[in-house]
Amino acid sequence: AAAAWQPPSQPKTAVIAHRGASGHAPEHTLSSYRLAALMNADYIEVDVRATKDGKLVALHDATLARTTNAETVYPHRSPWRVSDFSLRELKKLDAGSWFDPRFAGERIPTLDEVIQMLKAERVEAPLYIETKQPGIERAVVHLLKKHGFLQQRRVMFQSFHPESLQALRPLIPHGIRLIQLVGEKEARSGRDELLQQIAVYADGIGLPLSAVTEEWVRAAHGRGLMVHVYTVNEPHDLARLCAMGVDGVFTDYPDRPGRIAACR
Ligand code: G3P
Ligand code: CA
Repeated sequence: AAAAWQPPSQPKTAVIAHRGASGHAPEHTLSSYRLAALMNADYIEVDVRATKDGKLVALHDATLARTTNAETVYPHRSPWRVSDFSLRELKKLDAGSWFDPRFAGERIPTLDEVIQMLKAERVEAPLYIETKQPGIERAVVHLLKKHGFLQQRRVMFQSFHPESLQALRPLIPHGIRLIQLVGEKEARSGRDELLQQIAVYADGIGLPLSAVTEEWVRAAHGRGLMVHVYTVNEPHDLARLCAMGVDGVFTDYPDRPGRIAACR
């Protein structure tokens, strides 16, 4: 008998653990990344910034106020900008208690420590690094090379700063992907012109959930660009975007897409 008809296979939507499994553990801590790996995330997202002494750390905000106890430990150093603190000073901070007392004592990890943990615990999910500030590209590439992550293609890059992606391109091997993030306002401006510009130097676009439509996905794919969407936590949005054929979703709950038929 003839084989039953099957729909054309479509690559699965990649699950990108946003700041680790940050819905379950304090964002950008080793606990959060470990949990993302346990939940079988396809990528682990790490936002990267530099300290005053030029060390690379995993942190989203430009200041320490929201995700650490810096206001208590360093009461006179408002506004607690990361770039005003040395790594030694950052290491005194608790980056877990604000989320839940169970995570008291978690530290802000360096990018080096994140990579060491992934290697030691044999985590295969690649890193998805966001350069939060232009100017750190050489240092990031140097570190990744030291650990063999560039050579093994265990990384992808994203940034809101075009100049950061453009600076990375000549430093990285062919085939490593660069994703241009765009904000809500930019996504509302001329779509085709934006995609045309991005296609010159990047491999994909990172769109906010509020902006993404089927037309966006079609237009981006038409230019050979991948579409990653941030930040998608609700099951109905995950189902909708997976069905729409987006290439990846940043989610604080990397355990959720596996429970949604359209995402598997
Ligand atoms: O990197 C994708 C998404 O994480 C961008 O937003 O502010 O969470 O870094 P943000
Ligand atoms: Ca990010």
